Order: sequence, then structure tokens, then C-alpha cells
Amino acid sequence: MAPPNCSTSSQRHRSVHHSLPDKVRIVEVGARDGLQNEQATVPVPVRIELIQQLADAGLSAIEAGSFVNPKWIPQMAASEDVFAGLQKRPNTQYAALTPNLQGFERALAAGADEVAVFAAASEAFSQKNINCSISESLKRFEPVMIAAAKAGIPVRGYTSCVLGCPYEGESDPQIVLQVTRALLDMGCYEVSLGDTIGTGTAGSMTTLLEVLLAELPAASLAVHCHDTYGQALANILVALQLGIATVDASVAGLGGCPYAKGATGNVATEDVVYLLQGLGIDCGVDLERLIAAGQFISQHLQRSNQSRVAQALLNRAG
Ligand code: HMG
Ligand code: MG
Repeated sequence: MAPPNCSTSSQRHRSVHHSLPDKVRIVEVGARDGLQNEQATVPVPVRIELIQQLADAGLSAIEAGSFVNPKWIPQMAASEDVFAGLQKRPNTQYAALTPNLQGFERALAAGADEVAVFAAASEAFSQKNINCSISESLKRFEPVMIAAAKAGIPVRGYTSCVLGCPYEGESDPQIVLQVTRALLDMGCYEVSLGDTIGTGTAGSMTTLLEVLLAELPAASLAVHCHDTYGQALANILVALQLGIATVDASVAGLGGCPYAKGATGNVATEDVVYLLQGLGIDCGVDLERLIAAGQFISQHLQRSNQSRVAQALLNRAG
């Protein structure tokens, strides 16, 4: 299922865009960001099967669940059982969201390889999402960082609402910079920049990244684009051209955010893989197996696959 004339077009693109990375790491968030936003709670065996299929497709960084208050996000309850049921592949990192020390302790006991703390560039979103101010959230993460360092668990950070907030409107790149820098300074190995409501454009992404990259190394940043306005691939291309080599994506375009009304899923992983193949960038993912994983979960959820690439290739296959 390689794109037509893949190698020829790849060579052409690679010689034009010298700054494009050779390799991109995809962080697959469908089993967390995707399923957390489903009305129905997906049974644990289906969550496990999805994660297995994603790992089998070659994804080496997978968010498998989150250890938040199950009263807030019932879809992610039983993340312990998901981790317990995984047949882990040796070169795959299975990560979990942890908003506080209690969450970290659950993640550690469950055997997560990596955790993620999440802050926002908007006070209103921070309150709605994690029930505290931005600065309180950063304080809550400090004991998580200490415990994680002691346990040898890498911590990723998220800054949400980097290109817009459902409550406050446009975001200020300087606030995004402050929050992102604070997360890196406290020990996150990387911060993923969340366009939580997908309002960003190639223009606003460029402006934001120019501000951030003047102060922070590209290797410390990732992009996490929700595709609500259909701009995610364009925004990701901008990030790649500016040297960012980690991209979050969600199989079959699953997802949204329970505290961002109307936000639809993340960019579909299948679409990102196709984009990368066309640019001749290695991401280690087998597109055919990935599409099969997307079909598996879409059929379980009784919805159409939101990946345009998956739709096109499935139609072509007849
Ligand atoms: P809180 O109510 O302020 O916490 O919630 P608290 O410390 O006052 O505790 C209150 C109760 O919560 C207690 O239970 C605690 O035990 C319990 P009670 O005594 O009432 O029975 N509790 C917990 N239970 C299980 N695990 C925990 C935990 N912590 C406290 N870790 C809290 C604060 C953060 C926990 C809450 O607001 C919460 O769970 N929020 C969920 C937020 C969430 O998961 N949002 C979606 C993910 S973020 C996202 O999608 C954005 C992202 O994709 C990037 C992007 O797109 O921008 C990452
Ligand atoms: Mg998200």
C-alpha cells in the first residue's frame, strides 16, 4: 500500500526540504485521547487488542491509558487492567497520563514505561480539565517528577491549548513558551504542543513555533494536532519543516477532549504515515497493519474510519 511512485517523489521532496527530519517518532494516542472521548466505555479486552494491533503495526510509543479520577473520565477507568493484560513488545514504550502523584503511583504499580503530565496555556482550560490553576498544576507535577526520577520512569509533558482555547479564544505564544519551558525545566524529556481544539493554521503554527524555537531545541518538542478544522496535516508539515521530529496521532482519527466541547479527534495516524512516506521520512510503521487496527476499533465503535487515507486505500482495495 505504498503511495504511488513513493521513492521518486520522496527523493525529490527530500532534496528540496533540507531541514526535514530523516526519522519521525509517532506517539500513538488513540487508545487514550481517542477512547477517553467515547460516550461508551470500551471494554478492557478491546482496549488491549487495539494496543496490541498498534504495536504490531510498528508503533513504538503508545499511550495505553490514563490514571486520572475515574469519576471525571470513566472511559479511562480500569487502565490498570489494560496495562496488566498487555503482552508488551520489547521495543515499545507504553505510556499513561498522570495528573498528580496519586496518578503516578497508580501508573508505576501498573507497570507503565513512561508517564505524561499535562498543563495548559489557558487558565480557564486548566481549571476545567484538572481543577486547578496553571501554576498549581506545575506544583502538583513536582512530586511526580521526583518519584519518576527515583523509579527511572521518563516523563513527557503536554501543553494544551497552544493555538486556541475553547474558553479564552486565541492563545498567547509567550504563555505557551512559559508553560513549556517550565515543564522542560522540571525534567520532562519532551513537551507535546496540543492544539486541543484544532483551530490552528499553518500561519499560527509557524508564528508559535518561531517563538518557541528561538528559545527551545526542536528535539524537545512534539506536536499534537486535533483535526477539528481539517488543518492538522498542514500544521504538522510546518512543524516538520521547522525540524520537529515527534508527532502525536490517533489511529482512525479517534478522539477529542471531554473538556473542549466540539473538539474532534487527533489527526489520523494513517494520514500522518502517508504524509511521511510521501516525504521519504522513516517512521517504522506498516500502513496496512495500521489500517487494519483502525478498522478494528472503528467497527467496534460502529463508526466510519475518520482517516482519509484508510478510506481511500480500503476503497481502492475494493
Ligand atoms: P481534584 O478533584 O481537584 O483532585 O481532581 P483532588 O486531589 O481534590 O481529589 C478529589 C478526588 O479525586 C479524591 O477522591 C481523590 O482520591 C481522587 P474522593 O476522596 O473524592 O473519592 N483522585 C484520583 N483518583 C484516581 N486517580 C487520580 C486521582 N487524583 C485524585 N490520579 C484531577 C484533579 C486532575 C484528578 C481531576 O481533575 C481529573 O481526573 N481530571 C481528568 C482530566 C483528564 O483526564 N482530561 C483529559 C486528558 S487531557 C487531554 O486530553 C489533552 C491532551 O490530549 C493534550 C491536548 O489535546 O491538548 C493531553
Ligand atoms: Mg489531545
